[in-house]
Amino acid sequence: MKILVTDPIADAGLERLRAAGHEVATDYEAEGAALREAIADAHGLIVRSGTEVTADLLAVAPELQIVGRAGIGVDNIDIEAATEHGVIVANAPEGNVRAAAEHTVAMAFATARSIPQAHARLTTGEWAKGEFLGAELRDKTLGVVGLGRVGQEVAKRLGSLGMELVAYDPYIGEERADQLGAELADLDETLDRADFLTIHTPLTPETEGLIGADELAQLEGGYVVNCARGGILDEAALAEAVDEGVLAGAALDVFAEEPLPDDSPLLDVEDVIVTPHLGASTAAAQENVATSTADQVLAAFDGEP
Ligand code: NAD
Ligand code: MLT
Repeated sequence: MKILVTDPIADAGLERLRAAGHEVATDYEAEGAALREAIADAHGLIVRSGTEVTADLLAVAPELQIVGRAGIGVDNIDIEAATEHGVIVANAPEGNVRAAAEHTVAMAFATARSIPQAHARLTTGEWAKGEFLGAELRDKTLGVVGLGRVGQEVAKRLGSLGMELVAYDPYIGEERADQLGAELADLDETLDRADFLTIHTPLTPETEGLIGADELAQLEGGYVVNCARGGILDEAALAEAVDEGVLAGAALDVFAEEPLPDDSPLLDVEDVIVTPHLGASTAAAQENVATSTADQVLAAFDGEP
């Protein structure tokens, strides 16, 4: 079988597929006609978030059996079209959860203490000690939007640091929230009470634009962290809210358009800090998701569940 890999994954995953006797073709730059040509005889496709698996692409892949997503979010894959073509879509829902949660915690501290801004000033020769007055997380309220795998791990970590936890997730049970020491609330109450808001939903038609100008205004004086998906949060409204001092700061790992365009308003606001979709970028997480995705592809070829 031929497996086309269009976003970089850890070698351990590629080796597992080759060891099983399959041909693995990596092409991390392919797009347009080149991508359509590369996929024409592929039986498996492996992607991360960089490749858009559209209905048009699936239409020119008659041999394709499975799209493996070496990570969690499947918003870049047209699942309905895949289903119509009889193509399985399988993600790796566990392997990068800890990495994403740790990155979220790092981003919360980084924005609360202006670490990237202070680093930038010092590396350009400025000892700006008097200009940064941070906020402590202890005794503040963390609002978690989406209390799933990553949201729960973030809640555990920041709860253990003394934050009060309030969560908005209409699909999670009271009992689970109780176990985490979190109080479930509607979105309004979560925004009203939170000092830090952290977003952990998938990007769906329901969550697209969930946090806009009105919601940010409710969070007045607080901080926003988004390590889930761009598009859930209105970026222009966020840039304006931080710029005008409605919010104290924001930390974003994910963007509506990736790579983040040079002219994004987010890049002009001092107290908005950004990382280039690094939540899952640890060696351990990448090995986990690559090997788990390889296993899913092999199972599909063998007709296993
Ligand atoms: P998950 O499916 O385990 O949890 C998502 C939670 O969101 C669920 O509990 C669900 O009930 C809740 N939810 C769904 N719709 C909602 C809505 N309208 N309002 C409130 N809550 C809603 O997913 P996960 O594994 O925790 O991943 C969370 C997000 O993090 C996803 O968007 C994923 O793609 C992203 N992610 C990003 C990185 C990164 O590199 N930055 C890494 C891993 C995951
Ligand atoms: C995910 O949803 O798992 C993240 O986007 C991580 C990634 O693949 O970069």
